[in-house]
Amino acid sequence: MSQRSCLSIILAAGEGTRMKSAVPKVLHTIAGLPMVAHVVKAAEAAGSGELALVIGHGADEMRKAALKFAPKAEAFVQEKRLGTAHAVLAARAAISKGYDDILVMFGDTPLIDPEALAAARLKLAEGAAVVVVGFRTENPSGYGRLIEKAGKLVAIREEKDCSDEEKKITFCNGGLMAVAGRHALKLLDEVGSKNAKGEYYLTDIVGIAAAQGFDVVATEASFENALGINNRAELAQAEGIWQARRRREAMRSGVTLIAPETVFFSHDTEIGADTIVEPNVWFGPGVKIATGAKIHAFSHIEGATIASNCDVGPFARLRPGADLRNKAKVGNFCEVKQAIVEEGAKVNHLTYIGDARIGAGANIGAGTITCNYDGYSKFFTDIGEGAFIGSNSSLVAPVSIGKGGYIASGSVITESVPDDALAFGRARQRTLAGKGKELRERFSQAAAARKKG
Ligand code: UD1
Ligand code: CA
Repeated sequence: MSQRSCLSIILAAGEGTRMKSAVPKVLHTIAGLPMVAHVVKAAEAAGSGELALVIGHGADEMRKAALKFAPKAEAFVQEKRLGTAHAVLAARAAISKGYDDILVMFGDTPLIDPEALAAARLKLAEGAAVVVVGFRTENPSGYGRLIEKAGKLVAIREEKDCSDEEKKITFCNGGLMAVAGRHALKLLDEVGSKNAKGEYYLTDIVGIAAAQGFDVVATEASFENALGINNRAELAQAEGIWQARRRREAMRSGVTLIAPETVFFSHDTEIGADTIVEPNVWFGPGVKIATGAKIHAFSHIEGATIASNCDVGPFARLRPGADLRNKAKVGNFCEVKQAIVEEGAKVNHLTYIGDARIGAGANIGAGTITCNYDGYSKFFTDIGEGAFIGSNSSLVAPVSIGKGGYIASGSVITESVPDDALAFGRARQRTLAGKGKELRERFSQAAAARKKG
Protein backbone atom coordinates (compact mmCIF):
# COMPACT_ATOMS: atom_id res chain seq x y z
CA MET A 1 0.00 0.00 0.00
CA SER A 2 2.88 2.35 0.65
CA GLN A 3 3.22 2.58 -3.12
CA ARG A 4 -0.12 4.32 -3.36
CA SER A 5 0.11 8.09 -3.37
CA CYS A 6 -1.95 9.84 -0.74
CA LEU A 7 -3.16 13.36 -0.08
CA SER A 8 -4.53 14.27 3.33
CA ILE A 9 -6.90 17.19 3.49
CA ILE A 10 -7.32 18.59 6.97
CA LEU A 11 -10.31 20.85 7.48
CA ALA A 12 -9.64 23.62 9.92
CA ALA A 13 -11.71 26.52 8.70
CA GLY A 14 -14.39 26.11 11.32
CA GLU A 15 -14.50 28.69 14.04
CA GLY A 16 -16.65 27.67 16.94
CA THR A 17 -16.98 30.24 19.68
CA ARG A 18 -17.51 27.77 22.45
CA MET A 19 -13.82 27.73 23.31
CA LYS A 20 -14.29 31.38 24.39
CA SER A 21 -10.82 32.11 23.17
CA ALA A 22 -8.72 34.52 21.15
CA VAL A 23 -6.83 31.47 19.85
CA PRO A 24 -8.24 29.53 16.86
CA LYS A 25 -9.84 26.33 18.10
CA VAL A 26 -7.54 23.89 16.35
CA LEU A 27 -4.48 25.61 17.83
CA HIS A 28 -5.53 24.73 21.35
CA THR A 29 -3.12 22.12 22.57
CA ILE A 30 -3.21 18.54 23.72
CA ALA A 31 -0.02 17.36 25.39
CA GLY A 32 1.50 20.68 24.40
CA LEU A 33 0.86 20.27 20.67
CA PRO A 34 -1.92 22.04 18.73
CA MET A 35 -4.76 19.60 18.11
CA VAL A 36 -4.50 20.05 14.36
CA ALA A 37 -0.81 19.07 14.60
CA HIS A 38 -1.89 15.76 16.16
CA VAL A 39 -4.02 15.18 13.07
CA VAL A 40 -1.05 16.01 10.85
CA LYS A 41 1.09 13.51 12.74
CA ALA A 42 -1.53 10.79 12.34
CA ALA A 43 -1.75 11.47 8.61
CA GLU A 44 2.01 11.22 8.28
CA ALA A 45 2.09 8.04 10.33
CA ALA A 46 -0.48 6.52 7.99
CA GLY A 47 1.86 7.18 5.09
CA SER A 48 0.22 10.24 3.67
CA GLY A 49 2.90 12.05 1.71
CA GLU A 50 1.08 15.27 0.91
CA LEU A 51 -0.92 17.55 3.15
CA ALA A 52 -3.49 20.20 2.38
CA LEU A 53 -4.70 22.41 5.19
CA VAL A 54 -8.00 24.20 4.67
CA ILE A 55 -8.10 27.34 6.75
CA GLY A 56 -10.55 30.18 7.15
CA HIS A 57 -10.31 33.60 5.67
CA GLY A 58 -7.74 35.76 7.41
CA ALA A 59 -6.34 32.92 9.48
CA ASP A 60 -2.85 34.35 9.60
CA GLU A 61 -2.22 32.85 13.00
CA MET A 62 -3.06 29.43 11.56
CA ARG A 63 -0.71 29.95 8.65
CA LYS A 64 2.12 30.92 10.96
CA ALA A 65 1.52 28.00 13.30
CA ALA A 66 1.27 25.55 10.41
CA LEU A 67 4.75 26.52 9.28
CA LYS A 68 5.97 24.95 12.50
CA PHE A 69 3.98 21.73 12.75
CA ALA A 70 3.43 21.09 9.04
CA PRO A 71 6.03 23.00 7.06
CA LYS A 72 5.30 20.95 3.95
CA ALA A 73 1.54 21.42 4.03
CA GLU A 74 -0.10 23.56 1.41
CA ALA A 75 -2.67 25.95 2.88
CA PHE A 76 -5.97 26.63 1.11
CA VAL A 77 -8.39 29.31 2.14
CA GLN A 78 -12.10 28.57 2.34
CA GLU A 79 -13.47 32.07 1.96
CA LYS A 80 -16.98 31.28 3.19
CA ARG A 81 -17.88 28.49 5.52
CA LEU A 82 -20.36 26.64 3.38
CA GLY A 83 -19.88 23.13 4.64
CA THR A 84 -17.45 20.25 4.75
CA ALA A 85 -17.70 19.37 1.05
CA HIS A 86 -17.18 23.00 0.14
CA ALA A 87 -14.16 23.06 2.46
CA VAL A 88 -12.65 19.98 0.79
CA LEU A 89 -13.12 21.63 -2.59
CA ALA A 90 -11.07 24.60 -1.42
CA ALA A 91 -8.19 22.19 -1.96
CA ARG A 92 -9.31 21.44 -5.51
CA ALA A 93 -5.91 22.38 -6.93
CA ALA A 94 -4.24 19.77 -4.74
CA ILE A 95 -6.83 17.07 -5.49
CA SER A 96 -6.41 17.73 -9.23
CA LYS A 97 -2.78 16.75 -9.06
CA GLY A 98 -4.04 13.18 -8.97
CA TYR A 99 -3.60 10.86 -6.03
CA ASP A 100 -4.59 7.26 -5.45
CA ASP A 101 -5.97 8.00 -1.99
CA ILE A 102 -7.53 11.13 -0.56
CA LEU A 103 -8.03 11.28 3.20
CA VAL A 104 -10.28 13.90 4.71
CA MET A 105 -9.81 14.70 8.36
CA PHE A 106 -11.05 17.35 10.75
CA GLY A 107 -8.57 19.60 12.52
CA ASP A 108 -10.61 19.44 15.71
CA THR A 109 -10.52 15.64 15.99
CA PRO A 110 -7.07 15.17 17.49
CA LEU A 111 -7.19 11.59 18.75
CA ILE A 112 -7.44 10.08 15.34
CA ASP A 113 -5.57 6.82 15.15
CA PRO A 114 -3.09 6.24 12.28
CA GLU A 115 -4.31 2.63 12.21
CA ALA A 116 -7.85 3.76 11.44
CA LEU A 117 -6.46 5.82 8.56
CA ALA A 118 -4.38 2.92 7.32
CA ALA A 119 -7.41 0.59 7.50
CA ALA A 120 -9.42 3.04 5.40
CA ARG A 121 -6.62 3.27 2.85
CA LEU A 122 -6.53 -0.50 2.67
CA LYS A 123 -10.21 -0.51 1.66
CA LEU A 124 -9.41 1.96 -1.12
CA ALA A 125 -6.61 -0.31 -2.27
CA GLU A 126 -9.17 -3.14 -2.40
CA GLY A 127 -11.33 -1.10 -4.74
CA ALA A 128 -13.69 0.98 -2.62
CA ALA A 129 -14.50 4.45 -3.94
CA VAL A 130 -15.51 5.90 -0.58
CA VAL A 131 -14.63 4.68 2.91
CA VAL A 132 -16.23 6.14 6.02
CA VAL A 133 -14.68 5.50 9.39
CA GLY A 134 -17.54 4.89 11.76
CA PHE A 135 -17.84 4.32 15.46
CA ARG A 136 -20.54 3.03 17.76
CA THR A 137 -21.92 5.02 20.64
CA GLU A 138 -24.79 4.82 23.08
CA ASN A 139 -25.28 8.54 22.66
CA PRO A 140 -25.21 9.31 18.94
CA SER A 141 -26.84 12.72 19.11
CA GLY A 142 -25.11 15.32 16.99
CA TYR A 143 -23.38 12.80 14.74
CA GLY A 144 -24.19 11.78 11.20
CA ARG A 145 -25.79 8.29 11.16
CA LEU A 146 -24.50 5.58 8.87
CA ILE A 147 -27.42 4.18 6.91
CA GLU A 148 -26.80 0.65 5.73
CA LYS A 149 -28.88 -1.55 3.47
CA ALA A 150 -28.09 -5.22 3.03
CA GLY A 151 -24.70 -4.72 4.65
CA LYS A 152 -23.83 -1.86 2.30
CA LEU A 153 -23.40 1.76 3.29
CA VAL A 154 -25.92 3.75 1.31
CA ALA A 155 -25.99 7.14 2.98
CA ILE A 156 -24.90 9.28 5.89
CA ARG A 157 -27.74 11.23 7.37
CA GLU A 158 -26.96 14.27 9.49
CA GLU A 159 -28.87 14.41 12.77
CA LYS A 160 -31.02 17.30 11.57
CA ASP A 161 -32.20 15.37 8.54
CA CYS A 162 -32.83 12.07 10.32
CA SER A 163 -36.23 10.47 10.72
CA ASP A 164 -37.10 9.35 14.26
CA GLU A 165 -36.27 5.81 13.22
CA GLU A 166 -32.87 6.83 11.81
CA LYS A 167 -32.05 8.78 14.96
CA LYS A 168 -31.98 5.44 16.81
CA ILE A 169 -29.03 4.26 14.75
CA THR A 170 -25.90 4.10 16.91
CA PHE A 171 -23.37 3.55 14.13
CA CYS A 172 -22.05 7.06 13.42
CA ASN A 173 -19.80 8.97 11.11
CA GLY A 174 -16.50 9.61 12.86
CA GLY A 175 -15.75 12.36 10.39
CA LEU A 176 -12.85 10.61 8.79
CA MET A 177 -13.29 9.74 5.16
CA ALA A 178 -11.16 8.17 2.47
CA VAL A 179 -12.00 8.73 -1.18
CA ALA A 180 -10.46 7.18 -4.27
CA GLY A 181 -8.53 10.00 -5.88
CA ARG A 182 -9.77 9.25 -9.38
CA HIS A 183 -13.41 9.73 -8.42
CA ALA A 184 -13.01 12.41 -5.78
CA LEU A 185 -13.58 15.60 -7.77
CA LYS A 186 -16.53 14.22 -9.69
CA LEU A 187 -18.26 13.05 -6.52
CA LEU A 188 -17.53 16.26 -4.64
CA ASP A 189 -18.81 18.42 -7.47
CA GLU A 190 -22.09 16.55 -7.35
CA VAL A 191 -22.67 17.62 -3.77
CA GLY A 192 -23.45 21.01 -5.31
CA SER A 193 -27.04 21.24 -4.18
CA LYS A 194 -27.50 22.72 -0.75
CA ASN A 195 -29.49 20.72 1.76
CA ALA A 196 -31.46 21.32 4.96
CA LYS A 197 -28.67 23.06 6.81
CA GLY A 198 -27.83 25.23 3.80
CA GLU A 199 -24.43 23.61 3.65
CA TYR A 200 -22.58 21.42 1.22
CA TYR A 201 -22.19 18.21 3.17
CA LEU A 202 -19.18 16.05 2.51
CA THR A 203 -21.22 13.20 3.86
CA ASP A 204 -23.55 13.42 0.86
CA ILE A 205 -20.92 11.84 -1.36
CA VAL A 206 -21.76 8.52 0.26
CA GLY A 207 -25.31 8.54 -1.14
CA ILE A 208 -24.10 9.87 -4.45
CA ALA A 209 -21.42 7.23 -4.85
CA ALA A 210 -23.68 4.41 -3.67
CA ALA A 211 -26.42 5.44 -6.14
CA GLN A 212 -23.89 5.25 -8.96
CA GLY A 213 -22.96 1.72 -8.00
CA PHE A 214 -19.58 2.50 -6.54
CA ASP A 215 -18.31 0.40 -3.70
CA VAL A 216 -18.90 2.37 -0.50
CA VAL A 217 -17.73 0.93 2.81
CA ALA A 218 -17.78 1.73 6.47
CA THR A 219 -14.96 0.65 8.73
CA GLU A 220 -15.23 0.75 12.48
CA ALA A 221 -12.89 2.49 14.88
CA SER A 222 -13.02 3.46 18.51
CA PHE A 223 -14.98 6.48 19.69
CA GLU A 224 -11.78 8.44 20.34
CA ASN A 225 -11.19 8.69 16.63
CA ALA A 226 -14.31 10.77 16.35
CA LEU A 227 -13.98 12.89 19.46
CA GLY A 228 -14.42 16.40 18.12
CA ILE A 229 -13.34 19.23 20.38
CA ASN A 230 -15.79 22.08 20.64
CA ASN A 231 -15.22 23.40 24.15
CA ARG A 232 -12.74 23.31 26.99
CA ALA A 233 -14.42 20.37 28.66
CA GLU A 234 -13.96 18.25 25.53
CA LEU A 235 -10.40 19.54 25.28
CA ALA A 236 -9.73 18.23 28.78
CA GLN A 237 -11.44 14.94 27.91
CA ALA A 238 -9.16 14.51 24.88
CA GLU A 239 -6.13 15.40 26.97
CA GLY A 240 -7.15 12.72 29.47
CA ILE A 241 -7.51 10.06 26.79
CA TRP A 242 -4.21 11.06 25.20
CA GLN A 243 -2.39 10.91 28.53
CA ALA A 244 -3.89 7.53 29.38
CA ARG A 245 -2.68 6.13 26.05
CA ARG A 246 0.81 7.58 26.54
CA ARG A 247 1.09 6.21 30.07
CA ARG A 248 0.18 2.73 28.91
CA GLU A 249 2.75 3.02 26.15
CA ALA A 250 5.44 4.17 28.60
CA MET A 251 4.73 1.29 30.97
CA ARG A 252 4.70 -1.22 28.13
CA SER A 253 8.13 0.04 27.11
CA GLY A 254 9.59 -0.61 30.56
CA VAL A 255 9.00 2.59 32.49
CA THR A 256 7.61 2.33 36.02
CA LEU A 257 4.87 4.78 36.83
CA ILE A 258 3.89 4.35 40.44
CA ALA A 259 0.70 6.38 40.09
CA PRO A 260 0.26 6.62 36.32
CA GLU A 261 -2.80 8.84 36.46
CA THR A 262 -0.75 11.60 38.11
CA VAL A 263 2.05 11.71 35.54
CA PHE A 264 1.63 14.01 32.54
CA PHE A 265 3.62 13.61 29.37
CA SER A 266 4.25 15.99 26.53
CA HIS A 267 3.66 14.94 22.91
CA ASP A 268 7.41 14.50 22.45
CA THR A 269 8.60 13.06 25.78
CA GLU A 270 11.24 10.38 25.32
CA ILE A 271 11.75 8.15 28.32
CA GLY A 272 13.94 5.07 28.54
CA ALA A 273 13.38 1.70 30.16
CA ASP A 274 13.85 1.21 33.88
CA THR A 275 13.16 4.81 34.61
CA ILE A 276 10.97 5.15 37.67
CA VAL A 277 8.59 8.06 37.81
CA GLU A 278 7.04 8.80 41.16
CA PRO A 279 3.61 10.41 41.54
CA ASN A 280 2.75 13.92 40.40
CA VAL A 281 5.35 14.59 37.77
CA TRP A 282 4.84 16.98 34.85
CA PHE A 283 6.77 16.74 31.59
CA GLY A 284 6.70 19.82 29.39
CA PRO A 285 7.96 19.72 25.81
CA GLY A 286 11.44 18.62 24.81
CA VAL A 287 12.30 16.11 27.52
CA LYS A 288 14.61 13.19 26.82
CA ILE A 289 15.37 10.67 29.53
CA ALA A 290 17.73 7.75 29.05
CA THR A 291 17.49 4.56 31.07
CA GLY A 292 17.37 3.91 34.78
CA ALA A 293 16.64 7.43 35.96
CA LYS A 294 14.59 8.17 39.05
CA ILE A 295 12.19 11.06 38.81
CA HIS A 296 10.91 11.71 42.28
CA ALA A 297 7.52 13.10 43.16
CA PHE A 298 6.33 16.60 42.27
CA SER A 299 8.99 17.42 39.71
CA HIS A 300 8.37 19.78 36.81
CA ILE A 301 10.57 19.07 33.82
CA GLU A 302 10.73 20.71 30.39
CA GLY A 303 13.35 21.00 27.68
CA ALA A 304 15.72 18.84 29.70
CA THR A 305 18.02 15.98 28.80
CA ILE A 306 18.53 13.42 31.52
CA ALA A 307 21.16 10.74 31.05
CA SER A 308 21.20 7.27 32.56
CA ASN A 309 20.78 6.68 36.27
CA CYS A 310 20.20 10.31 37.18
CA ASP A 311 18.22 11.21 40.24
CA VAL A 312 15.82 14.11 40.02
CA GLY A 313 13.60 15.62 42.72
CA PRO A 314 11.43 15.42 44.67
CA PHE A 315 10.20 18.93 43.87
CA ALA A 316 12.85 19.62 41.24
CA ARG A 317 12.34 22.03 38.41
CA LEU A 318 14.35 21.38 35.27
CA ARG A 319 13.95 24.09 32.66
CA PRO A 320 15.01 24.22 29.02
CA GLY A 321 18.66 23.46 28.47
CA ALA A 322 19.11 21.47 31.66
CA ASP A 323 21.50 18.72 30.63
CA LEU A 324 22.13 16.08 33.26
CA ARG A 325 24.88 13.61 32.50
CA ASN A 326 25.11 10.08 33.89
CA LYS A 327 24.34 9.70 37.58
CA ALA A 328 23.92 13.42 38.15
CA LYS A 329 21.63 14.41 41.00
CA VAL A 330 19.31 17.36 41.24
CA GLY A 331 17.40 17.24 44.48
CA ASN A 332 14.55 18.93 46.26
CA PHE A 333 13.62 22.54 45.55
CA CYS A 334 16.35 22.97 42.96
CA GLU A 335 15.94 24.78 39.67
CA VAL A 336 18.32 24.11 36.80
CA LYS A 337 18.18 26.08 33.55
CA GLN A 338 20.53 26.04 30.55
CA ALA A 339 23.22 24.20 32.45
CA ILE A 340 25.25 21.04 32.14
CA VAL A 341 25.49 18.95 35.27
CA GLU A 342 28.30 16.55 34.51
CA GLU A 343 28.65 12.95 35.56
CA GLY A 344 27.98 12.30 39.22
CA ALA A 345 27.70 15.96 40.16
CA LYS A 346 25.23 16.75 42.92
CA VAL A 347 22.91 19.69 43.26
CA ASN A 348 20.93 18.45 46.16
CA HIS A 349 18.97 21.14 47.94
CA LEU A 350 17.34 24.54 47.46
CA THR A 351 19.56 25.77 44.67
CA TYR A 352 19.35 27.77 41.46
CA ILE A 353 21.75 26.83 38.69
CA GLY A 354 21.35 28.83 35.50
CA ASP A 355 23.70 29.34 32.55
CA ALA A 356 26.37 27.13 34.02
CA ARG A 357 28.48 24.02 33.79
CA ILE A 358 29.03 21.89 36.83
CA GLY A 359 32.03 19.60 36.49
CA ALA A 360 31.94 15.87 37.15
CA GLY A 361 31.58 14.93 40.79
CA ALA A 362 31.24 18.52 42.01
CA ASN A 363 29.07 19.10 45.06
CA ILE A 364 26.82 22.11 45.20
CA GLY A 365 25.75 22.96 48.74
CA ALA A 366 22.25 23.84 49.84
CA GLY A 367 21.07 27.29 48.90
CA THR A 368 23.73 27.96 46.28
CA ILE A 369 22.69 30.50 43.67
CA THR A 370 24.34 31.25 40.37
CA CYS A 371 23.67 34.97 39.99
CA ASN A 372 23.44 34.84 36.21
CA TYR A 373 21.49 37.98 35.41
CA ASP A 374 22.15 41.66 36.01
CA GLY A 375 18.78 42.78 34.81
CA TYR A 376 20.04 43.14 31.23
CA SER A 377 22.26 40.22 30.26
CA LYS A 378 22.91 36.63 31.22
CA PHE A 379 26.37 35.48 32.30
CA PHE A 380 28.01 32.10 32.63
CA THR A 381 29.29 30.25 35.70
CA ASP A 382 31.79 27.47 35.25
CA ILE A 383 32.39 25.07 38.11
CA GLY A 384 35.30 22.66 37.75
CA GLU A 385 35.40 18.94 38.30
CA GLY A 386 35.25 17.91 41.93
CA ALA A 387 34.66 21.43 43.23
CA PHE A 388 32.86 21.94 46.52
CA ILE A 389 30.52 24.89 46.88
CA GLY A 390 29.66 25.56 50.52
CA SER A 391 26.03 26.09 51.41
CA ASN A 392 24.31 29.39 50.82
CA SER A 393 26.93 30.74 48.43
CA SER A 394 26.23 33.23 45.66
CA LEU A 395 28.34 32.82 42.55
CA VAL A 396 28.16 36.13 40.72
CA ALA A 397 28.61 35.41 37.03
CA PRO A 398 30.66 35.63 34.96
CA VAL A 399 32.84 33.61 37.27
CA SER A 400 34.63 30.29 37.29
CA ILE A 401 35.63 27.92 40.04
CA GLY A 402 38.62 25.75 39.20
CA LYS A 403 38.87 21.99 39.49
CA GLY A 404 38.77 20.93 43.10
CA GLY A 405 38.05 24.52 44.17
CA TYR A 406 36.52 24.89 47.61
CA ILE A 407 34.12 27.68 48.45
CA ALA A 408 33.41 28.46 52.08
CA SER A 409 29.72 28.49 52.91
CA GLY A 410 27.93 31.79 52.85
CA SER A 411 30.35 33.22 50.31
CA VAL A 412 29.58 35.78 47.67
CA ILE A 413 32.04 34.91 44.95
CA THR A 414 32.73 37.68 42.46
CA GLU A 415 36.20 36.70 41.30
CA SER A 416 37.24 33.46 39.68
CA VAL A 417 38.84 30.84 41.91
CA PRO A 418 41.81 28.79 40.64
CA ASP A 419 42.08 24.99 40.79
CA ASP A 420 42.29 23.57 44.30
CA ALA A 421 42.04 27.00 45.94
CA LEU A 422 39.92 27.78 48.99
CA ALA A 423 37.86 30.96 48.75
CA PHE A 424 36.04 32.85 51.48
CA GLY A 425 33.74 35.59 50.36
CA ARG A 426 32.14 36.60 53.61
CA ALA A 427 32.78 38.83 56.62
CA ARG A 428 34.93 37.34 59.35
CA GLN A 429 33.01 36.25 62.44
CA ARG A 430 33.38 38.18 65.72
CA THR A 431 32.38 36.55 69.01
CA LEU A 432 31.98 38.82 72.06
CA ALA A 433 31.93 37.02 75.42
CA GLY A 434 28.91 37.79 77.63
CA LYS A 435 27.51 40.33 75.13
CA GLY A 436 24.44 38.22 74.38
CA LYS A 437 23.26 38.28 77.95
CA GLU A 438 23.93 41.99 78.29
CA LEU A 439 21.92 42.72 75.18
CA ARG A 440 18.98 40.66 76.35
CA GLU A 441 18.84 42.54 79.66
CA ARG A 442 18.95 45.91 77.93
CA PHE A 443 16.13 44.97 75.57
CA SER A 444 13.89 43.55 78.29
CA GLN A 445 14.29 46.67 80.44
CA ALA A 446 13.45 48.91 77.51
CA ALA A 447 10.34 46.85 76.78
CA ALA A 448 9.18 47.05 80.43
CA ALA A 449 9.68 50.83 80.47
CA ARG A 450 7.55 51.19 77.33
CA LYS A 451 4.72 49.16 78.89
CA LYS A 452 4.61 51.39 82.02
CA GLY A 453 4.76 54.68 80.15
C1 UD1 B 1 -19.43 16.30 11.01
C2 UD1 B 1 -20.11 15.33 10.03
C3 UD1 B 1 -20.89 14.29 10.83
C4 UD1 B 1 -19.98 13.56 11.76
C5 UD1 B 1 -19.24 14.57 12.67
C6 UD1 B 1 -18.16 13.85 13.44
C7 UD1 B 1 -20.54 16.54 7.96
C8 UD1 B 1 -21.58 17.25 7.17
N1 UD1 B 1 -20.95 16.08 9.16
O1 UD1 B 1 -20.46 17.01 11.69
O2 UD1 B 1 -21.48 13.37 9.96
O3 UD1 B 1 -20.70 12.65 12.54
O4 UD1 B 1 -18.61 15.58 11.88
O5 UD1 B 1 -17.54 14.72 14.34
O6 UD1 B 1 -19.43 16.39 7.51
N2 UD1 B 1 -15.34 22.78 8.39
C9 UD1 B 1 -14.73 23.62 7.50
N3 UD1 B 1 -15.47 24.40 6.68
C10 UD1 B 1 -16.82 24.33 6.68
C11 UD1 B 1 -17.46 23.45 7.58
C12 UD1 B 1 -16.69 22.68 8.42
O7 UD1 B 1 -13.49 23.71 7.48
O8 UD1 B 1 -17.44 25.05 5.88
C13 UD1 B 1 -14.54 21.94 9.25
C14 UD1 B 1 -14.68 22.30 10.71
O9 UD1 B 1 -13.65 23.17 11.09
C15 UD1 B 1 -14.54 21.00 11.42
C16 UD1 B 1 -15.02 19.97 10.40
O10 UD1 B 1 -15.01 20.62 9.15
O11 UD1 B 1 -13.19 20.73 11.68
C17 UD1 B 1 -16.40 19.41 10.74
O12 UD1 B 1 -17.36 20.43 10.73
P1 UD1 B 1 -18.46 20.52 11.84
O13 UD1 B 1 -19.30 21.70 11.54
O14 UD1 B 1 -17.86 20.42 13.17
O15 UD1 B 1 -19.31 19.20 11.52
P2 UD1 B 1 -20.23 18.37 12.50
O16 UD1 B 1 -21.55 19.02 12.60
O17 UD1 B 1 -19.51 18.07 13.75
CA1 CA C 1 -17.66 18.86 14.87
